[in-house]
Amino acid sequence: MTDIIAISDASIRRASDILAAGGLVAFPTETVYGLGANACDGGAVAGIFQAKDRPNFNPLISHIANAETAFQLGIETDFATVLANCFWPGPMTLVLNRTNGCPVAMLTTAGLDKIALRVPAHEQAQKLLAICDMPIAAPSANPSGRISPSTADHVYAGLAGKIDLILDGGPCENGLESTIIDCSAEAPILLRPGGISRGAIETALHSAGLHCRLGDAAQLSDCGQPVAPGQLQSHYAPDASVRLNATSQQGDEELIGFGPIPGAGELSLSLSQSGNIKEAAANLFSMLHQANAVTTGTNRRIAIAPIPKDGIGEAINDRLQRAAAPRNAPSGATK
Ligand code: TXA
Ligand code: MG
Repeated sequence: MTDIIAISDASIRRASDILAAGGLVAFPTETVYGLGANACDGGAVAGIFQAKDRPNFNPLISHIANAETAFQLGIETDFATVLANCFWPGPMTLVLNRTNGCPVAMLTTAGLDKIALRVPAHEQAQKLLAICDMPIAAPSANPSGRISPSTADHVYAGLAGKIDLILDGGPCENGLESTIIDCSAEAPILLRPGGISRGAIETALHSAGLHCRLGDAAQLSDCGQPVAPGQLQSHYAPDASVRLNATSQQGDEELIGFGPIPGAGELSLSLSQSGNIKEAAANLFSMLHQANAVTTGTNRRIAIAPIPKDGIGEAINDRLQRAAAPRNAPSGATK
């Protein structure tokens, strides 16, 4: 059952309780409606991918109430300071390196060392973020491959029965997603055009004495949209080689299982002891990191048990295939 209720102080409190308990809430922002979950709760974030029926794990934007909170999660740079001062709150997302101890779940950032952060301007979204004691991970609240929702009815049409609550705040002002800028490196890069124009960004940087050209994302998809790093073929490859569909451990391989691992010790890794696919999604990136960290020597190898392909299992298998893809292969986007 998905409730759809007018946004108010009372419904925002209810939304906050649902989010704290690991549930899913769609809420309005000035760009489009977002499908929110506690960004620090991998299980809740797995629920987002399940509800959207996304065949792969795109990294998600973490929404926070202000720049100060943003810079506790992502490392502040000169570019980020200037752009945050000019355009937050507002339709701009900054990609920064994760801080040490950043509590956001690895699934939220799809295993990347970078985190996407946005402080929305929408008054009610601001209220929700202010009373929630957590960053909220939120992609647009539409089923995968469909148009982004700019009304609560659009959200209901696509996701009814799959999420807990829709906060109805009327139509979104912009209807166009946020501009995404990677500010983590030497020069800022425009990853996705959106609500704030390239010209406005360059003017802001120049006025602050930062004279640089705004770079473009190198990879473009068929429809001309920048391809997020999460979609590159061999993106997020551990240092160790990866063997898929392993039914047993060979030699000194580190095995990541699914379900109970027969005869294995307590320390062996299972994406989900009980064979729960959502739990497996929540554990995927942190276990790849863990397995990578314990392999040693020059011939480091990780083996991974077969993972069911239905539902969110499709996204898990997609990501595992990328992790196992030959290194240094041309890193074209896959469909
Ligand atoms: O306006 C918006 O940005 C809306 C509202 C809800 O805030 N959100 C939105 O989210 O459009 P979504 O998931 O539909 O698009 C987020 C984009 C994806 O293309 C993703 O690849 C990119 O942000 N992204 C997220 N984290 C990233 C990261 N660490 N590095 C690079 N790109 C990232
Ligand atoms: Mg979207």
